[in-house]
Amino acid sequence: MLGGAAFAYGSVVERNWFALRRYEVPVLRDGAAPLRVLHISDAHLTPGRHRLLSWIRSLDALEPDLVVNTGDSIAHPRAVQPFLEALGPLLDRPGVFVYGSNDLYSPAPKNPLRYLWRDSSRDNGRHVPDLPWAELGDGMAAAGWMDANNKRGRVKAADFDIEVGGVHDSHTKRDRYQDIAGPTDPAADLRLGIMHTPEPRNLDRFAADGYDLLLAGHTHGGQVCVPGYGALVTNCGIDRERASGLHRYPAGPGAPGEHRPWLHVSAGLGTSPWAPARFACRPEATLLTLVPGIG
Ligand SMILES: [Fe+2]
Repeated sequence: MLGGAAFAYGSVVERNWFALRRYEVPVLRDGAAPLRVLHISDAHLTPGRHRLLSWIRSLDALEPDLVVNTGDSIAHPRAVQPFLEALGPLLDRPGVFVYGSNDLYSPAPKNPLRYLWRDSSRDNGRHVPDLPWAELGDGMAAAGWMDANNKRGRVKAADFDIEVGGVHDSHTKRDRYQDIAGPTDPAADLRLGIMHTPEPRNLDRFAADGYDLLLAGHTHGGQVCVPGYGALVTNCGIDRERASGLHRYPAGPGAPGEHRPWLHVSAGLGTSPWAPARFACRPEATLLTLVPGIG
């Protein structure tokens, strides 16, 4: 009875109770103007999710200088066009994206509590993607957004020259950090690393190559959290304390002279259609305002 009420709350109320998170991140050099970065992730869109679609559509009013989409945008073969239409004017702004495994593989029925005893990286027994991930990527790339799946490049946003490196999703072993490896350019105004899954083996390499800010999704912030305790699991190698929000990476005080980027993990906008509830973990998008204060 209590469980049924909690599920009803999580699926009807909290799943549609969108939150805009805001953080200031001190990663720019002295004297730089603020840079507004909108981070979206894990929409897992199915065509009927009108509240989610209209909330995404409202985010352009934040007037971000750059939009970063860290993947798992779709969960249905006919979700690409609604997703692109919801982005709407955001596509006219500078943007970058990577895929998550759910952009490639349609969701399969599974016990939503399976995350509690193992991670889902072995759930994709299928090897041939059945979702229109290329159409999704083509739509964002046609608008000028940078495809950062195992790619490195330069993006101009406001007056900033941003070096961007990204990897495809490690959850299905498509990440090829070696394709983007190498020291970042100290002459760039910002060095931005993006990925779907915040897997330590990639985070370590982004940090070693000198990236200032790392953005990821995938965890859903735990999706089902315990109030006062937080996420039970992260569904990847990152620790529970950093299942969502803004932190330094690696944690702890760091060795003298060690480069420790900022890491923002989005709790995401949606849920798998087969686990359609969130608890103590509202769906979210994040506006990161980058300001001076390197270190
Ligand atoms: Fe996801």
